[in-house]
Amino acid sequence: MIGTANSAFQSEGAWDRDGKSESIMDYFAKEYAGKFSPGVAKKNKNGLIKSGRSLENSEDLPDRGCFFYDNYEAYIEDMVKTGQNVYRLSLAWPRIIPTGVGEVNPKGIEFYNKVINKLLEKGITPFVDLYHWDLPMCLFDKGGFLNPEYPAWFEAYAKVCFEAFGDRVKLWSTFNETQISANSGYCAGNFPPFHESKKEALLAAHNTIIAHYRAVRLYKSMNLGGKIGAVNCTRAIHPAGMREEDIEAVQIQYNNAFDWYTQPMLEGTYPQKLLREIPYVADNMPENFQAELDQWFIPMDFVGLNYYSAARTQFDPTKNLKSKAAEPFFSSPGQQFIPYPPGLFDTVMYIHEKYRGVDIYITENGCALPNINDQEKECDDPERITYIREHLRMVCRLLKCGVNLKGYMYWNDSDSYEELDGYRLRFGLTWVDHQTGERRWKKSRHYFSQICKTRLVN
Ligand code: NOJ
Repeated sequence: MIGTANSAFQSEGAWDRDGKSESIMDYFAKEYAGKFSPGVAKKNKNGLIKSGRSLENSEDLPDRGCFFYDNYEAYIEDMVKTGQNVYRLSLAWPRIIPTGVGEVNPKGIEFYNKVINKLLEKGITPFVDLYHWDLPMCLFDKGGFLNPEYPAWFEAYAKVCFEAFGDRVKLWSTFNETQISANSGYCAGNFPPFHESKKEALLAAHNTIIAHYRAVRLYKSMNLGGKIGAVNCTRAIHPAGMREEDIEAVQIQYNNAFDWYTQPMLEGTYPQKLLREIPYVADNMPENFQAELDQWFIPMDFVGLNYYSAARTQFDPTKNLKSKAAEPFFSSPGQQFIPYPPGLFDTVMYIHEKYRGVDIYITENGCALPNINDQEKECDDPERITYIREHLRMVCRLLKCGVNLKGYMYWNDSDSYEELDGYRLRFGLTWVDHQTGERRWKKSRHYFSQICKTRLVN
């Protein structure tokens, strides 16, 4: 299948309408504007970081998304015209159960029913994520991922979703990019809630994995006849040189970024290399973690991969992970996520080999160009066309190599809210005016549409 993707808090807007409560993304964008970067510029000049609370209607707030809540029908019409046959979306937990646990909001269920039914009516398969980073704020106030009750809260939320939509939705994912919500959010301190504790990060990740198991178990027990997996992310990691230690460093980085989440979800264990050789990890693990994995483990059906970029790594015994980033061997001035299409091939191959031919979906792959602030230029985007063509060439190669690659979803369908960069980074195939909601196809959408319709990449 081929199509596009987006997430609830990035696309819907209507953040406080029809009973929806505040999510951590809504809250942190508003209260911690200083932590949100003012776009690509931040990467170059520290002085540009703002601080304090965001003003209403500010570029830092996900309160508009791309107005999907109000305009979903028009967006789906565009998907139909594009010729795609899948759309990946996420459900907003605070829209479905505003208090996190307990009473269901009928308006939330009604909205997603309308979207799902419209997609199906138009022959587009909904690929539905239960969670794409928008934890209800009321649950965060109770400790969020760190609360031992978190897996039970998530299972109860998943039950509501499976009961409401499971008769029609046949492709589910539990979590999007746990590496970011757990590791960036609790250890690296560069994503909400901006904590810096490895112990907390490992606990947040562990509780998320148990929550994932519980949702997968529940799903299987309901015999709804679909597939369920999770979406994880990594860059393509290459060794800085041919020293044996650099090759080891690559393994450590893949284990840390990707396998830490994927391996327990497929095999019921954490990567042993990190547990054995990296004290920074071993010393900070939650108690009885293996017993808990053993108690709840159930393998998921497929791996979702979000792929954007590549990196080089080298051995460095002084670092926590005994490795550090080396200069990339390619660059792309002005782009925040440096594209490297062969890295898609390498990464999918890595997953295919390590996890013995597991089904894989490329759930995100996309390109944000520097914001030009000029509609004509934004819509004339030859770089994005090249980006799509080169990545899809890798998809063709992977298929020829016999990889069980089931789908490709471009990120994102339309210019939306980018978590740390607001409306300044535009990944979309459709250009959106974030004040008025006006939409316009970029040239890349026309190009992508040809590929969807002909299944030929050229
Ligand atoms: C991955 C995330 O899932 C998505 O929310 C984000 O917009 C893209 N990366 C681009 O940064």
